[in-house]
Amino acid sequence: MRMYDIIAKKRDGQPLTQEEIDFFIEGYTNGSIPDYQVSALAMAVFFQDMNEEERAAITMAMVHSGDTIDLSDINGIKVDKHSTGGVGDTTTLVLAPLVASVGVPVAKMSGRGLGHTGGTIDKLESVPGFHVEISSEEFVNLVNQNQIAVIGQTGNLTPADKKLYGLRDVTATVNSIPLIASSIMSKKIASGADAIVLDVKTGAGAFMKSKEEAEELAKAMVSIGNNVGRQTMAVISDMSQPLGLAIGNGLEVQEAIDTLKGQGPEDLTELSLTLGSQMVVLGGKANTLEEARSMLEDNMKNGKAIQKLKDFLSAQGGDASVVDHPERLPVASQTFDLEAKEAGYIHEIVADEIGHAAMMLGAGRETKESEIDLSVGLVLNKKVGDYVEKGESILTIHANTSEVELVKEKLYNNITIKSGNIDKPQLVYQIIS
Ligand code: URA
Ligand code: CA
Repeated sequence: MRMYDIIAKKRDGQPLTQEEIDFFIEGYTNGSIPDYQVSALAMAVFFQDMNEEERAAITMAMVHSGDTIDLSDINGIKVDKHSTGGVGDTTTLVLAPLVASVGVPVAKMSGRGLGHTGGTIDKLESVPGFHVEISSEEFVNLVNQNQIAVIGQTGNLTPADKKLYGLRDVTATVNSIPLIASSIMSKKIASGADAIVLDVKTGAGAFMKSKEEAEELAKAMVSIGNNVGRQTMAVISDMSQPLGLAIGNGLEVQEAIDTLKGQGPEDLTELSLTLGSQMVVLGGKANTLEEARSMLEDNMKNGKAIQKLKDFLSAQGGDASVVDHPERLPVASQTFDLEAKEAGYIHEIVADEIGHAAMMLGAGRETKESEIDLSVGLVLNKKVGDYVEKGESILTIHANTSEVELVKEKLYNNITIKSGNIDKPQLVYQIIS
């Protein structure tokens, strides 16, 4: 088999066989096929697409390019959730204990990464003592005992994806549905998920800016999952404005605590219940989404969801008293209000720019080496559709400096107030299963 022929075949719009796909993924991973040939193939895929069989084949080829996590010692159906990323997306912190509280095992491997705020692990590390450096054995035992544990990234997972993603990044081939879908799904499958729930975001703060693109990506991922024997569902949700009210690490932990107590922001609560219901159905603990939802709502009201968070934090060395004493979470030294310059209705809170403002305060990492400040961030007091009086606080800035003029300027430039009223944006656009 020759890489040249594979490139030519895809260039001419013909589907590749599983053997051809295995050949190039294996050769690329072990270095026998060079970057320039894979670049040409990625560009050919960008223009010619891949059919369902090819998408499933490239996903599994990437899964088998490195280590895979074996969760078979954990009882029950392991359901993982993936979000395509957004601003102030606190859902994992809510969902993990919430679905664990109805008996769905949550065996989560998570990372730090770059972004407006830290990753799930950074957020959890705002809880004093909490750590994710546990052995695989301890991880399995904790999930069997408490239905929930989080471990830092272990093993050499999907090296083919790492290499290919890096190459796509510099060859203008990131934005290809078959390549994005296989990239994301390969990582979920390699980390041991039996079933997968996807939260595909759309809007200013999302990777997929339009609803059409988000729908296409969601459908592609659901079909890959189902074709390779992992039941998969997806939700397309709004990321035109930040989700919930808090954007920041410790601040989002606080927000997750409120939500698990049934006192969280409306949109975060709703999205958590929507995604959580899918996880509970796929986990085999309920027959319908309605039944699953009412189990989750019950546990938010009867205290079982918040108790699960406490058990989870303590089991991994964390001080669970933060749940009832939020002042024990990292607290910034100063707060400032962003006062409305005029009265009216909030029309826009541009998610990615607001996320960038949080990063300017130190809530996220610009480069891998950046230090992250777990105490800082933003808390919205108003969301799109709300009325604000002149001088009223639109949001509160939590900072460890008094130099917040540039942050304020960025915020003012990305929040639009107009005199006419406007509906709140729809939160969940579509459910795909
Ligand atoms: N995220 C991924 O993990 N892979 C892609 O290709 C794009 C976004
Ligand atoms: Ca939030």
